[in-house]
Amino acid sequence: MGLSCFQGSIAKNVWRVNTEGTRMDAQQLKQQAAEHATQFIQSGMVIGLGAGSTAVLALRRLAELLRAGELRNVVGIPCSREIEAEALKLGFPLTTLEQNPVIEVTIDGADEVDPQLNLIKGGGGALLREKIVAQATKREIIVVDESKLSPALGTHWAVPIEVLPFGQGSQKHFLEALGAQVKIRQKSDGSTFITDQGNLIFDCNFGAISDVSALAAQLNGRAGIVEHGLFLGVAADVIVAGADGIKHLKRES
Ligand code: A5P
Repeated sequence: MGLSCFQGSIAKNVWRVNTEGTRMDAQQLKQQAAEHATQFIQSGMVIGLGAGSTAVLALRRLAELLRAGELRNVVGIPCSREIEAEALKLGFPLTTLEQNPVIEVTIDGADEVDPQLNLIKGGGGALLREKIVAQATKREIIVVDESKLSPALGTHWAVPIEVLPFGQGSQKHFLEALGAQVKIRQKSDGSTFITDQGNLIFDCNFGAISDVSALAAQLNGRAGIVEHGLFLGVAADVIVAGADGIKHLKRES
């Protein structure tokens, strides 16, 4: 199936030309999407701090706004240890779901977005915490560059599935029986990738998925699968930055 993530990278640095004829790379587009999303954060909010390279740009912008006094009393709940470390470095005030079980707004990234605003997430391996934070959030805002848009989930990206180490062979067999090509995620040095919770990630290439709800139900019903990267009906808004500017997509309720 040759999904890009199976080869260890996705086309993140494709150059695009905007309407003024200026070349923009994916990093600039991510920056635009992230900055656009920060306008929905207001003083006094408890917010979710998503993981990944786009969400971290939003975090850095919010830290600037706090430092400048343009935002006050905002506290964040990080979706990964990496984001927590970045927030601490920036002096961004943090809290927990124990102290604040309801989050007003979360800004997070995604790997693939379908026309119904369903998502594949977990490219960075933080899908479990991201889903916990998303489910505790009133308004989940997803920030992406236009390369993430897809006609059907699974077209461009494998589904990351977080699996408990115990019984992992059985989970691989189960996922293959569902039609997936399964690859156990490794770090760049060849060692096994371990999540913040001490689990494994299986990157599961199903190809374009015809019924995401049915697949999610099968994954939800399997003991040993801790969580999967199908985020269905979770995103309230998707901010897409592309060569023609920013598009704000909203989920129909
Ligand atoms: C982290 O586990 C992921 O869900 C990220 O949010 C997702 O991979 C998007 O990452 P980028 O913004 O780096 O593309």
